[in-house]
Amino acid sequence: MAGRLDGKVAAITGGASGMGRATAMRFLEEGASVVIGDLNMSNGESAVKEAGDAGFGDKIAFARGDVSEETDVEALVALAVERFGRLDIMFNNAGVGGAFGPITDTTVEEWDYTFDVLVRGVFLGIKHGVRQMKRQGDGGSIINTASIAGLSGGAGPTAYSAAKAAVANLTRATAAELAQDRIRINSIAPGAIRTPLLHSGRAAEMEALAQDKTPWPVLGEGSDIAGAAVFLASGDSQFVTGHTLVVDGGALAAAPNFWGFGQDAMFKKKAGLNRGTTGDKSDVRDVNNSK
Ligand SMILES: NC(=O)c1ccc[n+]([C@@H]2O[C@H](COP(=O)([O-])OP(=O)(O)OC[C@H]3O[C@@H](n4cnc5c(N)ncnc54)[C@H](O)[C@@H]3O)[C@@H](O)[C@H]2O)c1
Repeated sequence: MAGRLDGKVAAITGGASGMGRATAMRFLEEGASVVIGDLNMSNGESAVKEAGDAGFGDKIAFARGDVSEETDVEALVALAVERFGRLDIMFNNAGVGGAFGPITDTTVEEWDYTFDVLVRGVFLGIKHGVRQMKRQGDGGSIINTASIAGLSGGAGPTAYSAAKAAVANLTRATAAELAQDRIRINSIAPGAIRTPLLHSGRAAEMEALAQDKTPWPVLGEGSDIAGAAVFLASGDSQFVTGHTLVVDGGALAAAPNFWGFGQDAMFKKKAGLNRGTTGDKSDVRDVNNSK
């Protein structure tokens, strides 16, 4: 049976874990070739092995790289072209929790790290993905991972929420800019998805908290995001651009207040920097509200 992405070439950042990895596997099953970019070397290698074990060894490649470094993003696009001849789909998905804690305790370095990964990384992915697609001259699909945290004030840490809001509007602005080139730019805004990032080392506790705020009776899985990504990557969405597709089991519809309000909110009790599943250590410290 024909796959929905037969002959397409995709690059996926943050493809070594969670929803990026689930999407890489699904894209392969749909007939695409996939290059994964990720900071986490061992998870990247294990994703390549998983793809190889499933019979896709000649259709997968991995490059260790940081999405906030322009040369690394250029190298990922170049790898897609070198290995598979072109680039049709760019999924800018890498992410971390970033700065948390009261705004008065957030350092400039933590704020900048958050925006470097979540916004500069998406900007660079769009920039270099689009450059390649324009060279090819026959369009393409860019997909960015936003979040319901970027569509409300109560579903994530402050800097993270601001950064994800920027992703949603970067999506709109670039969609308008690039429509004449038949390059579509859309975002996916996940709710609570069962991944290592959501778990933050406390899987049961975090899943219970998130489920409590999610109307659907189970949490989302990486495969739910992969399904949305296949739609946005394929011709089925050929007239869809500038859109942010919410995939959250009804959490946003129910107006999320995931982690509590004020200084008692979960992300306000301590301050620091969550470096996600990059393999780099996170920092946590007591709050002093910068008195
Ligand atoms: N899990 C959720 O509930 C949820 C909800 C909304 C949005 N998101 C977003 O979904 C995306 C994927 O997250 P996930 O839940 O699959 O998490 P995950 O931690 O399982 O995967 C994220 C991947 O991104 C990689 N990464 C982080 N910083 C990087 C960098 N600078 N350069 C290259 N790679 C980097 C990590 O190493 C990791 O492999 C992120 O953008 C995240 O913010 C997640």
